[in-house]
Amino acid sequence: MEIITATAEIGDRIREIRAQGRTIGFVPTMGALHPGHLSLVEKARADNDIVIVSIFVNPTQFNDNGDLEHYPRTFESDRSLLEEAQTDILFFPEAGELYHDEFRFKVTESPLSEELEGAHRPGHFDGVLTVVMKLLSLIRPDRAYFGEKDWQQFLLIRDMAAAFFLETEIVPCSLVREPDGLAMSSRNAHLSVEERQRAAFFPKVLRSCDTTDKKRRVLEDAGFEVDYLEERDGRTLGAVVLGSVRLIDNVRLSETETSP
Ligand code: PAF
Repeated sequence: MEIITATAEIGDRIREIRAQGRTIGFVPTMGALHPGHLSLVEKARADNDIVIVSIFVNPTQFNDNGDLEHYPRTFESDRSLLEEAQTDILFFPEAGELYHDEFRFKVTESPLSEELEGAHRPGHFDGVLTVVMKLLSLIRPDRAYFGEKDWQQFLLIRDMAAAFFLETEIVPCSLVREPDGLAMSSRNAHLSVEERQRAAFFPKVLRSCDTTDKKRRVLEDAGFEVDYLEERDGRTLGAVVLGSVRLIDNVRLSETETSP
């Protein structure tokens, strides 16, 4: 696996790969990789000649500096997981490489980016859309893979690619869960042992046949702080805070239990 940190160098490699007529599958990540990310890499491996993964903890999508500072950084284990998953190129830039414009230019969407996650994390989606636009412009992949765990993020990136006539196909990938049902997330590492046990109650409640109001009450009674809980596009989307960790998840209404 090649590791590239400079935008000029990745640009040269992309030109070579495209000149050889090979297809590129791209998986953007912020590192702290878990089996959910690896399922995206596996899909990219199956669909394309060359697989590129980026690791970049994108500062502009954090609306809270503490959250950015504490975001897990596990480069050595990420690197070996990506080698095992047969990644061809790992792109690992410094912030100055991607933000040489110092974030003067942004991609902003309205109204979806101001709702749900956006209502609780002002500016978050400007950061996400801008960095994804930069990465897609540099790498020009045939396909880019995004997890359905971040359903709102997937919708915004899919619509941005269409709005700017990007040639990349935006591929959604199913959410990967722990055996007890908790959605895999890099943030789960911050849960205490006791919180980790309680966290599995969140997807269980999302899947229950209760109304969203009832689900909210049940979660609050169990000690979760509920940021939002809404039915949209045939899914129940939710975000909760447990201790100091914010968890997001969504389930298709068709996955909802028919009996309590
Ligand atoms: O989902 C993520 O990990 C990030 O939001 C992404 C898409 C890599 C952009 O920084």
